[in-house]
Amino acid sequence: MTTPLPIIIDTDPGQDDAVAILLALASPEFEVLGITAVAGNVPLARTEVNARKICELAGRPDIKVFSGAIRPMVRTLVTAEHVHGKTGLDGPVLPDPKMPLQSQYAVDFIVETLMSRPAGTVTLCTLGPLTNIGLALVREPRIASRVKQIVAMGGGYFEQGNVTPSAEFNIYVDPQAARLVFDSGIPITLIPLDCTHQALTTAKRVEAFRKMPNNSGPAIAALLDFFERFDENKYGTDGGPLHDPCVIAWLLKPELFKGRLVNVAIECESELTMGSTVVDWWHVTKRPPNATVIRSVDADGFFALLTERIAKLA
Ligand code: BDR
Ligand code: CA
Repeated sequence: MTTPLPIIIDTDPGQDDAVAILLALASPEFEVLGITAVAGNVPLARTEVNARKICELAGRPDIKVFSGAIRPMVRTLVTAEHVHGKTGLDGPVLPDPKMPLQSQYAVDFIVETLMSRPAGTVTLCTLGPLTNIGLALVREPRIASRVKQIVAMGGGYFEQGNVTPSAEFNIYVDPQAARLVFDSGIPITLIPLDCTHQALTTAKRVEAFRKMPNNSGPAIAALLDFFERFDENKYGTDGGPLHDPCVIAWLLKPELFKGRLVNVAIECESELTMGSTVVDWWHVTKRPPNATVIRSVDADGFFALLTERIAKLA
């Protein structure tokens, strides 16, 4: 067996973040070095608790969970309770976590881990606003040459935005942090709405989780019942996009995804288009490529992987 890939999951759970964390914890291909919480879908006080609830749901109270940035680098925090509910994990009743929160600040943990582990080995999986990573880059710029890669859910090009007409939530919440990340030189794979809007939680796919004889499957079904109602109303689809697990699935089975190496720039000046990801899909500028932008996913293959893995959880 090959050595597991060391990853840090930076996240703002969020029902879809929760499914992504469960997929990672169900997959022996990963060594989860830590989970770093950030303010996003709901305030930080809830995202760090939610991250711990999910670890316990997976039977993994040994995972280290850290609390990070309480607000974006420059702008005022925007949250998304209208999508995720007041707790961020509305849907099932999940017990308050017993496992402790680590005392170290998430940004320090990210810097320390990257500086102490061999260069080019640690992957950052980012599922929320990029504040913790932006702050880590400011605190210790040398981490840029030590990260193996960032796989980020965020942005949109063909599908444009979901929180404004032109911006996706994770980038919109902290565009300055996103700009630091995209300008850092770290190899990036970006999973935007163009991809995640193809990964729909149809009734049939959700039922597969509900039927599982473990704790995580039915909990995922209850999370998704709540989560999908907003997007089903908005888009008129059977099910809603399951954004964040695509990050973990790309690491497990990149052959399910198709994308292109291009330049991505982040709009931080115009209030009208704040946080939009300006993707040079057609190479019309001379700006150097800085990210592989994913445009499509084999949705049946993605859900087959997800259900196969979640079924293995205790
Ligand atoms: C992203 O924003 C959040 O609502 C989801 O958790 C996902 O990370 C989708 O725009
Ligand atoms: Ca998220």
